[in-house]
Amino acid sequence: MKETSEDMAGAAADLYAADCLRVTGEGRNFTVALSGGKTPIDFFALLAVDSRLSSFAWKKTHIFWVDERCVPPEDAGSNYGNAKRVLLDHVPLDPGNIHRMPSELPPEEGAFFYERELRKFFDCETGGIPRFDLIVLGAGADGHVASLFPGYELSAEGGPLVVPVKGGQPDVWRLTLTLPVLNSAEHVIILISGHEKAPVVRALMGKSTWEPPARRIRPESGALYLVIDRAAAEFEGNGSTGLSARKEGFREN
Ligand code: 6PG
Repeated sequence: MKETSEDMAGAAADLYAADCLRVTGEGRNFTVALSGGKTPIDFFALLAVDSRLSSFAWKKTHIFWVDERCVPPEDAGSNYGNAKRVLLDHVPLDPGNIHRMPSELPPEEGAFFYERELRKFFDCETGGIPRFDLIVLGAGADGHVASLFPGYELSAEGGPLVVPVKGGQPDVWRLTLTLPVLNSAEHVIILISGHEKAPVVRALMGKSTWEPPARRIRPESGALYLVIDRAAAEFEGNGSTGLSARKEGFREN
């Protein structure tokens, strides 16, 4: 648990840099999928000036999106547009390493083409699930992650990797990675800030019977890092340290 949302951004940047430097240091491409919304903006801004991330590391980095509103990139609600403004325009990423969701297409088509791009990039065109090195999620006060909103039939194994969904705030068509992709990642960070989301943290820590979509984030063989600020940890008063999880269990770290 961090005191403020700025502290959270620093903790997320530390986790990101550790993963990026580990993977690129092994000579592999670092694959990361980013969420949108307001919470990760401070995190993106820190990454843009993080001296640990060499130009070599950026050259080996491939950025994807967890979800995207079906609006033009220049729209203020565009997750890609906001990441571009705060991060992508400030780091030496090759354009071919930026894999934005085709939000300008009709939703069904956008989902089809992004799934095809994922399967080709991760060499799983005949089946299987892409395994990202890192996926960065936010969470809504309603307990959604990505664009997997309460009441939405979460995809089971063998389903699509990318689906069109209408909902959220703003209530627009979106493209989103499905649960199997999120749970296939090596590391997942969920960034949660603000008192209004304390019930989501409580659910994620198994301290309530509420089962929001966020609770379905359980990396099969990876680790889950819950990065929260004191306001989101208010349910216990003294908050708690950051959590990491392997499979079902949570453990303090
Ligand atoms: C989106 C995001 C979404 C976001 C949550 C939290 O497109 O809206 O990807 O999943 O992470 O809605 O949003 P805030 O960070 O703005 O609270």
